[in-house]
Amino acid sequence: MGLTRVSGLLFGGDYNPEQWPEHVWDEDVRLMAEAGVNMATVAVFSWSRLEPRPGEYDFGWLDRVMDLLHANGVAADLATATATPPPWLVREHPEVLPVDAAGTRLDFGSRQGYCPSSPVFHAATVRLARAMAERYRDHPALAMWHIGNEYADHTLECFCEESAEHFRRWLRGRHGSIDGLNAAWGTSCWGQHYTAFDQVNPPRKAPGPVNPAQLLDWRRFCSDALLECFELERAVLREVTPDVPVTTNFMSILHGLDYWKWAAAEDVVSDDAYPDPADPSSHVAVALSYDLMRSLRRRPWILLEQASSAVSWREVNVPKPPGMMRLHSLQAIAHGADGAMFFQWRQAKYGPEKFHSALLPHGGTAARGWRDTLALGADLRRLAEVAGTPTEAHVALVLDWDSWWGLEAPESMPSNRLRLKELMQAWYGPLHAAGVAVDLVPPLGDLSGYRVVIAPNLYMCTAEQAAWLGAFPGHLVVGPFSGVVDPDDQVHEGGAPGPLRGLLGVTVDEFWPLPDGTVQPLRLGGRAVPARTWAEWLRVEDAEVLARYEGGDLDGQAAITRRGRATYLGCLPEDVTPVLREVLEAAGVEPVATVPEGVEATRRGDHLFLLNHTTDPVKVDLAEPGTDLLTGRDLNGLTEIPGRDALVLRLASPGTRRTNEGER
Ligand code: GLA
Repeated sequence: MGLTRVSGLLFGGDYNPEQWPEHVWDEDVRLMAEAGVNMATVAVFSWSRLEPRPGEYDFGWLDRVMDLLHANGVAADLATATATPPPWLVREHPEVLPVDAAGTRLDFGSRQGYCPSSPVFHAATVRLARAMAERYRDHPALAMWHIGNEYADHTLECFCEESAEHFRRWLRGRHGSIDGLNAAWGTSCWGQHYTAFDQVNPPRKAPGPVNPAQLLDWRRFCSDALLECFELERAVLREVTPDVPVTTNFMSILHGLDYWKWAAAEDVVSDDAYPDPADPSSHVAVALSYDLMRSLRRRPWILLEQASSAVSWREVNVPKPPGMMRLHSLQAIAHGADGAMFFQWRQAKYGPEKFHSALLPHGGTAARGWRDTLALGADLRRLAEVAGTPTEAHVALVLDWDSWWGLEAPESMPSNRLRLKELMQAWYGPLHAAGVAVDLVPPLGDLSGYRVVIAPNLYMCTAEQAAWLGAFPGHLVVGPFSGVVDPDDQVHEGGAPGPLRGLLGVTVDEFWPLPDGTVQPLRLGGRAVPARTWAEWLRVEDAEVLARYEGGDLDGQAAITRRGRATYLGCLPEDVTPVLREVLEAAGVEPVATVPEGVEATRRGDHLFLLNHTTDPVKVDLAEPGTDLLTGRDLNGLTEIPGRDALVLRLASPGTRRTNEGER
C-alpha cells in the first residue's frame, strides 16, 4: 500500500489556480496530463477566497478545480487552507496576529499571521477544516490532507498575553507547582524566585541574557503550541475522513520544531527542501535531512516541495543548471522519497514569489524548464516500481531536539560555535562520501539492526539515555560536550560527561573552546589532524587513549579515548574519517557501493542508485549486473555515468534484505 491511493511515484507541485483566470486552468490540467503530473497541492493559502466573510463559503471555484484535476488524472493533496488567516479575521480580532519578543504586534500583509495560542484562530481553523472536510470528503480527487504550511517558517512564537497564559498552563503541566518551576529553572540565580505562575512570562526582550532554562522550556512550548494547532485540525479530518492520510510539510532539519514528536502525529511525512545550486556541497547537507525524513517513521516519505530552478528568497537566487533539477529529484527518491514534487506548478505573475521558478515557467512550453518538466515526469514513471521499497542502514546518528535547544541557547555557553547541524554534518559528510547508509534515531529509539551508533553531540543527557546507549551492543561514538546537563539545563554532578562517565571512562576537567581560526594539533593514527573550534581537558579514568594533543596548550593530554566499544572525542578533529573508518571496519559495516568522489550511492530494496553530482563523467565498477530503469540498458562491470546524471539499477541478483514496513 502506497503512502496515498496514487500508485507509483508522486510528481507535481503546489497549484494556485486562484491566482489565474479560469480559462488558464484548462491549459494547466492539459499540460499536467502531458507532463504526467499525478498530484497537485491545492488551496494552501486560499482561506480568504474560500471564506471571504465569516462563515460564508465560496467553494464553487475549488469544486471546479478539483473536478478538473480529477478528470485529468491528478490527485489532490488538499490543504485545509489555514496557513494564512484572512483580513476579516485579523481586523475583527487583532489579537489573532502574533506579537514579537519586543512586544510589537505584527500586521497583516504576509502569511502565517497568527498567534499559535489564539483560541479565536483555533476556532476559525477548526471550522474551516470541518467545512473543507465535509465538502470534499467524497471527492474522487482527494488523496491526502495538507494541514497548515511549513509550520514555524515565519511564525514560530508569539509573545502576547494569550501566549503567556498558554505558556503558564504548559509550565504547570510540566513542573506541577511554582516551587517545581523555581527548582527546575534555578531561579535563585539573579534573583528570579517566583511566588505565583502569573508572574512568569515568555522570554520577552529583557535587559540582559534571559534564564536559559526559561528559554529551553519556551522552545519546547513553542513546538508543542504549533503542534496543537495541527492536531486540532487533524482531529476534525480524522473524524470526517478517517481513511484520508494527513500530512504537513516539514522544513528539512528545522531547529524550531521537534520533528520526532510531529511525525508521530501525522500519517505521511513530507518535506520541502531547497539545496542551494550555488553551493557545490548542498547535496550532502540535504541528504542528511532526507535521511531524517525517512527515519522519522521508518518508511518512505514525500518530497512535497523543491524548486525546479531558482528560488526567490535568497540574497542571490542562482538557477539550477541543466541536469540538476532531475538529479536532485532522483536524490530524494534515492533517500526513500516516494515522490518528487515542487513549489510550484505555474510560475506566479505577482507577489513575493513571482521570480521563483516553477514547473511551467513564465516562458511557457517554449522554455528550457518545461522540457525538464516533461523529461522528469517521464523518468519518474520509469521508476514507478521503486515506490514503497525500504532502505537498510547499519549506522545511526542520534538527533535530539531538547539537547539541540539547550546547546544553542544564546549568551551562556562556553562557545557559540558549536552548532548541532554542523556537528551532525561532520560525521554525515564522511559517511555519505564513503557510500554508507545512515538512519537517524531519537534518544531511547530502537537500536536493533544497527552496528554503529554515533551521537555527534548529546549536550543534554539523562541517566536513562546513558543506560540506553550503554545497552547498545554495537560500536558507539560520542562527540564532545556531551552529558553536560540534565533536562532542566542543570550541570550534572561532577561535570561532563555526567551519566555517560561510566560508559566512556573519562571526566572532562575543563572545556577548552578554541578561538576562531586557531587549531589545537593532535596525532591520530600516526597522522597530524588538527582540532578546530573545540577541545577538552580530559581526565582518563578507565579508557585507552586513541589520540593525544601534540603541542599547544593541551600538549600530551588525551583527545580521543575508547572504553570497550565506546569511543569518545573530546574535540572536533578537522576530519573524523580516520576514527570513522576504524569503527566501521571493526563493526563490519560495508558501503552500499564503492564510488568515486562526488558520486552518491544509496540502495532501496533491490535498486541501487548511483548519482554523479560532479559535472564530469565518472566510471563506476558495478559489483553486480543490473538494468538501468532510466534507460532500459543492462549494465555490468565498468560503467560510465555522465556529469550530473544517474543510474537506477534493478539488481539482477537481489541480496537478502530487511523490510522496514513496521515502525521502530
Ligand atoms: C516553501 C513554501 C512555499 C513557497 C516555497 C518557496 O516551500 O511552502 O509556499 O513559499 O517555500 O521556496
